[in-house]
Amino acid sequence: MPHQVKICDTTFRDAHQSLLATRMKTEDILAVAPAMDEVGFYSMEVWGGATFDSCMRFLNEDPWERLRLIRKAMPKTKLQMLLRGQNLVGYRHYADDVVDEFVKRAVGNGIDIIRIFDALNDPRNLERAMIATKREGAHVQGCISYTNSPVHSIAHFAELTATLRDMGADSICIKDMAGIIYPYGAYELVRAIKEKTGLPVQMHCHYTSGMASMAYMKAVEAGADILDCANSALALSSSQPCEETMIASLTGTSFDTGIDLAKISPIAEELKTIRKKYAAFDNADPRVDPNVLQYQIPGGMISNFISQLEQSNAMHRLNEVLAEVPRVRKDMGYPPLVTPSSQIVGSQALLNVLQGERYKMATKETQNYFKGEYGAPPSPVDIEMKQKVIGSTETITCRPADLLPPMLAEAQKEIGAWIETPEDLLMYIMFPQVAKTFLENRMAGKTRVEYNMVGGEPGKVNYCPI
Ligand code: CO
Repeated sequence: MPHQVKICDTTFRDAHQSLLATRMKTEDILAVAPAMDEVGFYSMEVWGGATFDSCMRFLNEDPWERLRLIRKAMPKTKLQMLLRGQNLVGYRHYADDVVDEFVKRAVGNGIDIIRIFDALNDPRNLERAMIATKREGAHVQGCISYTNSPVHSIAHFAELTATLRDMGADSICIKDMAGIIYPYGAYELVRAIKEKTGLPVQMHCHYTSGMASMAYMKAVEAGADILDCANSALALSSSQPCEETMIASLTGTSFDTGIDLAKISPIAEELKTIRKKYAAFDNADPRVDPNVLQYQIPGGMISNFISQLEQSNAMHRLNEVLAEVPRVRKDMGYPPLVTPSSQIVGSQALLNVLQGERYKMATKETQNYFKGEYGAPPSPVDIEMKQKVIGSTETITCRPADLLPPMLAEAQKEIGAWIETPEDLLMYIMFPQVAKTFLENRMAGKTRVEYNMVGGEPGKVNYCPI
């Protein structure tokens, strides 16, 4: 049925995470935030994902302060964030008391919509964060990590979204982090989810393969309600489709967004100037990446392989590594490739090739994966490979976080002296080393340092497009 399509702008989170290694500073966000607030976006994704880590690690900024400042600068627009289920904005599972506290503080500091996903699509890993979000009165967006594999059918995904609805999701997001959803596949999937759940559907695609805007058009025809897009100054490549293009494409149709492009063009001009400041981190390739279609490997993962193979003087083995990735993925029960599974599969594929024998050595993460510590994979793991990696070690079948004792009180004891707010404690729990340095600097009254702009080494940072 014809319906007005809504736009979620991702410029302040995913766009610069995908194109500028998550380096955009708060002052540059605030420079355009008031104008963004006037555009009429349904929502803006401004927080979560890698921005939390990057704020402290590279920018010497308090991520909570960033959120509060954005909230103040944008009173009209709903703010949304990306949450990695039980991993929150970190890279491992945290105990339930930390999940409850984090969600409470995120909503308390200004978040309206929380998009919750899990790399393995194990609903048990989303459960606690969904309950907490509901309790705090925010919008719960249940999210599926999209991938192609022999076990990921339309019916499989539709069933999964029905589970998320039953768990309390207010809307569903299709998260296509690698940009591999085909336009007609998007049509079928959106239709199936709408039929199965009756919930609003939001599309989140990366432009990597060049198919995303076509996928959006077909998704709209199938009833998709909201499209994630970025401002033209930070769109395309491994970022989202361009919002001006999508808005124009729907103008005059029954899907018309009602957004006036004239309100966006001055913002785009300003953002183009701002982007130049981050040239040292701007690795965006203006061409589409056909590798992602052939290997289903996100662009960021390939650049990681290249840098690691260069260090081992083994660049000539890149094709072997790329071919090993789908095999490792099969052994592991076809996990979608997104943080942290993309790193687990990638590192193991690299080891398998460089060691000359598959699973001769396994990373700690691969061992934990086979032990079930990340949750249940989409399909059972390969028994023979599992035996090779962890022997007869017992595997976990319960929800992994059920094994974690409460963490808040313990952390308070460890870092109490540096803590000024409950938010500080959460920073420490998720990033102990980074947060400790940050909190110490703050207490010592150190001013923001200039190395921030070039902090970290370009090309050696986590580029995973999530
Ligand atoms: Co993304």
